[in-house]
Amino acid sequence: MRHAPVLLEETLVAIVTARGGNYVDATWGRGGHGRALLARLGAKARLLALDRDAQAIADAVGLARAEPRLEAEQACLSRLAEVVERRGLAPLAGALMDVGVSSPQLEDADRGFSFMRDGPLDMRMDRDTGMTAAQWLNEADAPELARAFRQLGGERDATRIARAVVARRPLESTADLAAAVASASTQNRDAHRHVATRVFQAVRIVVNDELGELDAGLDAAFTALGIGGRLAVITFHSLEHRIVRRRFRAWREGAAVARRAPVRGEPPRRARLVVRGARPTDVEVGRNPRARSAMLQVVEKCA
Ligand SMILES: C[S@@+](CC[C@H](N)C(=O)[O-])C[C@H]1O[C@@H](n2cnc3c(N)ncnc32)[C@H](O)[C@@H]1O
Repeated sequence: MRHAPVLLEETLVAIVTARGGNYVDATWGRGGHGRALLARLGAKARLLALDRDAQAIADAVGLARAEPRLEAEQACLSRLAEVVERRGLAPLAGALMDVGVSSPQLEDADRGFSFMRDGPLDMRMDRDTGMTAAQWLNEADAPELARAFRQLGGERDATRIARAVVARRPLESTADLAAAVASASTQNRDAHRHVATRVFQAVRIVVNDELGELDAGLDAAFTALGIGGRLAVITFHSLEHRIVRRRFRAWREGAAVARRAPVRGEPPRRARLVVRGARPTDVEVGRNPRARSAMLQVVEKCA
């Protein structure tokens, strides 16, 4: 199972500023971006592959056996700065995050990410920690479920669906959840989006604390960057786009500095925007429909 890297050329052009520098691919997946990045880097460069998914890291560890510039560790985004520091890789010349789920995760029924394939309701990217989707869906009360479906999935029938979930407990499989959604949804199934798409997205975001992880990961990556170092982030829905946009704006306006240590006059700018919300071309979306909603934002750390 391969994973077609999204916005690949745009990302590499934006982050490779020093061929011999230290880099992090913080969401290795199947190394689509990471392998292409290695091909652009010189002999002295180092690349750290991170991912919270054990299978993704196994892929990077396999490649690292034959590639001395690569090292790999299973870790989540929020731990990026700590791992980079421990491995003596700071300051970084560049870091990349391509968040969300990978094709191998979606396609493996056993992981429970997809309503297209029946499997256990798990949805954890790191299967060694945290609650499964089944645990959350079977324990949260209806208002909490409805709030998540609405706020994290943009689901208009959130309350009806939450009640249907509660009525069907215990839910055990992705088919159980898809059936609960279908029984309560008033939306028509269209060619592009199954009625359960929004609810599955919301559950996945809750189970993996994806928004909290993204926010903490941005801060961690920015901390580990050297001056002139660049951070590229690829996001897939508006909640993620907004977290990145706001965080980049705060750095550009010096707001984060001002909050910590008030200074007279204008707080110093800490960052410069390099790419403001690039979208894939129609050609890329034609080849890889998963790229449809992707957005690339890149920032550079300033002195
Ligand atoms: C879209 S895929 C990355 C694909 C990769 N760029 C490629 O080209 O093969 C997202 C990956 O990020 C990982 N991931 C998502 N959130 C994470 C987090 N908070 N910390 C670490 N890894 C995360 C997932 O496990 C998944 O493997």
